[in-house]
Amino acid sequence: MPRFSGKVALITGGASGIGRATAELLAREGARVVIADRCREEGDALAARLRHDHGDALFIESDVACPASVESLVVRTMHEYGRIDCAINNAGLSETPIDMIDAPDEQWERLMSVNLRGVWLSMQHEIRAMLATGGAIVNVSSRTGLVGKPRLAIYTAGKHGVLGLTRSAAVDYARHGIRINAVCPGLVRTPFVETKYGDRLPALAHSMNPLGRIGEPEEIAECIAWLCSDAASFVVGVALPVDGGAVA
Ligand SMILES: NC(=O)c1ccc[n+]([C@@H]2O[C@H](COP(=O)([O-])OP(=O)(O)OC[C@H]3O[C@@H](n4cnc5c(N)ncnc54)[C@H](O)[C@@H]3O)[C@@H](O)[C@H]2O)c1
Repeated sequence: MPRFSGKVALITGGASGIGRATAELLAREGARVVIADRCREEGDALAARLRHDHGDALFIESDVACPASVESLVVRTMHEYGRIDCAINNAGLSETPIDMIDAPDEQWERLMSVNLRGVWLSMQHEIRAMLATGGAIVNVSSRTGLVGKPRLAIYTAGKHGVLGLTRSAAVDYARHGIRINAVCPGLVRTPFVETKYGDRLPALAHSMNPLGRIGEPEEIAECIAWLCSDAASFVVGVALPVDGGAVA
């Protein structure tokens, strides 16, 4: 029996990178996946492929920075499938490196509205939906949620905030049968970093961690799936580095 057979998994930012790899893995392992993303074209195409390969998947165009959009995402998922067993709050934006004292207010608003408020809004609705059945939530923070990083103050603050939300929600809702954890990826090969670092990526990846290489989205997806699975039934409120040893 596949480990997510009969389960419903909701993945924000599911159309690309880490979210996409997670959607593919969970679908392969039997879950009905709901891909939530701002990018309609990629999201629709992925859902169609997963439906073809594995039987069931749905794309819902959504913006995690918009309260009404997050509410309607969860309402529609409940309407279609009647439950949410796993929620992966992964949608995020990268920051153009800048000295903190030069960063405009607009940059704070844009990043925090997606990277922190988006996780908060998503968890509020997901937890309400899970109260009757229990479930597992995995928030995607970052290595930068655990340590400071030069010239990325807003991104760093947002990802630290995700861990604060994760731990608070974890202790509040464990007794309702909802396990809430976070992963903290290091440098991972996705459009997010390919756009940001371009040609500098291979050299940067080599110096970034003890393994001396970049991570692949599938390596993060495996850890997310494990945290969602019954194999992690006693794991609550952790911030799991998945970074080739960078934080160590
Ligand atoms: N790639 C890395 O090296 C790395 C490292 C640490 C943490 N992360 C985190 O992993 C997560 C996924 O990043 P990725 O590297 O896969 O990036 P990505 O750009 O490949 O994917 C992010 C997805 O989120 C979607 N998205 C962005 N804003 C959204 C919004 N407001 N509402 C809904 N969807 C939205 C995008 O459309 C995209 O499909 C992010 O939270 C990021 O901070 C990435």
